Amino acid sequence: MKHIFAFLFGIILLAPLPGLAAEQAENKSPGTKTTIGVILPFSSGFTEIAEEQQKAIEIALKETVGDYRVVYMDGHGDVEHAVKAFEELMRLKEKPLAVISCASWAADALHPLAAGNDVFHITIGSATFNRTVKGHTVRFTLDAKKEEKQLAMYLEKFQRIAILYMDNSYGRNWVEAIQANFPQKTVVSVSYDPTGKDFTKQLSVIKEKDPDALVLLSADNAAIIARQAREAGITAQFVGTRPIQRPKLLDAAEYTNGLVYTYPSYNVKHHFLNEYERAHNSVTTIFGIEAYDAMTTLSQAISAGNRTSDDLFDWYRGRTYSGALGEVTFDDNGDATYPYVYRQIAGGGFHVPEFQFSMLLRQTSEEINHILHEMHESLEVAVDKLFVSGIKGEAATRALQQLYEANKYAFDCATVDPEGVITGAAPEEVSYILGKDISHQEQIVRLKKTHKPVVSTAIDTIEGFVGFDLEHPLFNQDGEFIGSVSILTKPDFFGSVITQKVANFPVEIWMMQKDGRIIYDVNPEEIGKNLFRDELYADYPSLIQAGRKMVLSEQGRTHYTFLDKKLESNVRKELIWSTIEIHGTEFRLALAYVKNDF
Ligand code: COI
Repeated sequence: MKHIFAFLFGIILLAPLPGLAAEQAENKSPGTKTTIGVILPFSSGFTEIAEEQQKAIEIALKETVGDYRVVYMDGHGDVEHAVKAFEELMRLKEKPLAVISCASWAADALHPLAAGNDVFHITIGSATFNRTVKGHTVRFTLDAKKEEKQLAMYLEKFQRIAILYMDNSYGRNWVEAIQANFPQKTVVSVSYDPTGKDFTKQLSVIKEKDPDALVLLSADNAAIIARQAREAGITAQFVGTRPIQRPKLLDAAEYTNGLVYTYPSYNVKHHFLNEYERAHNSVTTIFGIEAYDAMTTLSQAISAGNRTSDDLFDWYRGRTYSGALGEVTFDDNGDATYPYVYRQIAGGGFHVPEFQFSMLLRQTSEEINHILHEMHESLEVAVDKLFVSGIKGEAATRALQQLYEANKYAFDCATVDPEGVITGAAPEEVSYILGKDISHQEQIVRLKKTHKPVVSTAIDTIEGFVGFDLEHPLFNQDGEFIGSVSILTKPDFFGSVITQKVANFPVEIWMMQKDGRIIYDVNPEEIGKNLFRDELYADYPSLIQAGRKMVLSEQGRTHYTFLDKKLESNVRKELIWSTIEIHGTEFRLALAYVKNDF
């Protein structure tokens, strides 16, 4: 039979949870149980977060098979109290096997202590944790550096960014990151005491700067701040980060409607969410979700026989698990990664707004377009040089080398004579292509006909992979056609641009030519297949129909059923697409997502 013990240790200003007294009374033989210390910011500006985390841990404990004695400690909202709480835990007769702590500042201070005491440490609610000691500590919060990249894609459209931040390491680190990303656009940043209630002074400083976006690095105070900001006449778009989603925001929807923030796209169907709501008549947030997963996985790790800090750390390192947070992967440092989306308050509720999908598609398309146009411009520079040097010889090779070095996505650069034979190539490693006849390649055929710049569709290159070739015609001083100069893109050109753009968003972007050939997909085995002819797609008529629509229109939206990202089970995907066009060659860029996941 399973026994769960929950202690409230030290002076915790917290109403005990229902049933707690009874559990404490049962605590007859603590020596047979595994002790786990939990340090949460009970007496602080984050009391409600701490209480939510405690309730989540209690739910996880009810579901676990192990026998645990959980000792809750009050870490207040500062480093000093967190350290004191940890030291007190270390003095317990039954020293904890593991300690769970919340908040970035606590994680910073406690992880060297955990290492020093050989105690396994889990940190939750810790986005700006600065790890200085290896091992021992596993983190369930996505690093702010990753979240910040996603936030920056939304902030990009604003001109005057103001920041109001909680005065602690979480707030300060975030301010640094935003300022580094938008040094010209950040017009003001003002701190506030997270235990405060009146923010009018700070808000008047912000109003003076007339921002069009106000980033609130806030948690439990966000609703009051939003109200006071609107009452002060600040009309800026409210923008937030993960901790801002607190239930109180919806009570103040009159002021908070429209707020956009970055947030994990956790498993909305996980039973824990219903369990929490049923038990506490309120909805849990990411703080409870992290705490639940932390306790659940810790119990699994212990049950698997891991009884030392090193073994527990190794259990997490590199592991992927599926929990309330969704699919989570720990890297070698013990940091968790999982996708984030933008959320928005609309109509008095928390939503995953549609705007993000078209925004991501547009930004990805702009990025690819931008790179292709830069390639074209650098070809024009090379054309001028080759006009003087001709297509062969040392000066021509130098011009090709410079062209190659100016384009990070170039696999190689070459000159081709009017018969379609390669006469010059850079870098040196590809000199094996010299003298090769590429007159059969479709872009060379077109270029010969039109004497205009061309971009190929996917071609089987003589370099040995499927690639894309930009060719610019060359003329001599008498205006005669003397061949062309080219940039051949690297094999993973589209993939590397796309992956950077949609990193950590739970969406898929794929690319198709108008003949149905897939030129990029997250699953490498799909690249090169024809959507209309390959047997992989034959049993998915709605996907083939979506492909036909894509051929006919430059942009649009539809939906289809196909295999999920891992090619495991069928899911309905929403699809939006647009077109990248350069020198008459069109590529369809498609973004797909599973609406049911949000
Ligand atoms: C963080 O440090 O990442 C947090 O979310 C702390 C929270 C108590 C505001």
